[in-house]
Amino acid sequence: MKILALETSCDETGAAVVEGKNREQAVRVLSNVTATSLAIHAATGGIIPENAAREQIKYIIPTIVEALLKSEKIEQGSPEENFRNANMVLKKKIDAVAVTHGPGLIGSLLVGVETAKTLSFSFNKPIVPVHHLLAHLFANFIQTVNRDPRSVNFPFIGLIVSGGHTDLLLFKSLTNFKWLGGTRDDAAGEALDKIGRQLNLPYPAGPEIEKRANKVAKSSIKFKSPLIDTEDFGFSFSGLKAEVGRFIQTDEHKTENWKNEICYAVQTAIFDVLVKKTIRATKMFGVKQILLGGGVSANQTLRTRFELEIKNLKLKTKIFVPERVYATDNAAMIGSYAALNYKPIPWKKVTAEPDLYFD
Ligand code: KG4
Ligand code: ZN
Repeated sequence: MKILALETSCDETGAAVVEGKNREQAVRVLSNVTATSLAIHAATGGIIPENAAREQIKYIIPTIVEALLKSEKIEQGSPEENFRNANMVLKKKIDAVAVTHGPGLIGSLLVGVETAKTLSFSFNKPIVPVHHLLAHLFANFIQTVNRDPRSVNFPFIGLIVSGGHTDLLLFKSLTNFKWLGGTRDDAAGEALDKIGRQLNLPYPAGPEIEKRANKVAKSSIKFKSPLIDTEDFGFSFSGLKAEVGRFIQTDEHKTENWKNEICYAVQTAIFDVLVKKTIRATKMFGVKQILLGGGVSANQTLRTRFELEIKNLKLKTKIFVPERVYATDNAAMIGSYAALNYKPIPWKKVTAEPDLYFD
């Protein structure tokens, strides 16, 4: 089954064509196109929701056209030819449409949802609404040169670490899962972005903080790892942001190396608690697999920290992390989840749900 998937929950505009069906047929990505309005948000130091949605309105159709053409390896031609060919691919090759329906920014979600509903109605294709956060975890089920998704199995502990969310879940099967805990305030990615702003780093700051932290082997600066000793699975990162803010204002060094050391210390404080609580969850529930997902899981240090901790504790736990391109927001993960958990509903019932959560 071939699915055209759309993702517009935040600042990206994504369209992808994936092939797959339940767990019988591994999910393969035939095309995955992402248009980003990051340059605009970098200029304002963060996302202004209305700007994001305006850009997505411009990008959505060209992005879909490109994804459809690439999925059939059709060369680009004039705009009219492209449109005609994309139309033909959609009509003849695509079996269903999938779309992120939440959580996310309302204006952004509406762009994807209304486009998907229009395509579903006018091309008479079933439509599958997809939970953005669950899709982040199910990006691990995409087949790649390095990954045979049959090696990923239930049960697993899922850690979602994105710009808007930090959540820990226990998955017993595709549909039987339990939320164990999440952030009480800022998400891990949000904390990185806000701290990056205090350090005058470009938005989004996560990748830049990673680069700078990699330049130092250790740091004399230390920040508290929030909630690291609590017995629950809660997280909190706004206190860390305030602590770093105070440190930046009062400390006198202000060299590039000093900035790098702060980045190292911030990453350490955030990753210590993520690793500790996730591994504790695997022990508590007797689970041998961890799946990470979301933009922060693109961070190589976080991946390595998990691997080291598993080795140090002599655990048999396996850790799965999506390939970078499927870790940050993308439409292939939306298609992957829809292929694995194929539940179309009437197009009229699909609505944008900005506050969608796990209940
Ligand atoms: O999942 P995502 O693309 O969008 C949301 O659903 O929020 O996550 C974006 C977040 C941003 O906060 C960004 O700074 C962070 O992911 N991020 C990273 C890295 N790449 C992106 N954080 C740490 N290291 C990275 N390499
Ligand atoms: Zn996301």
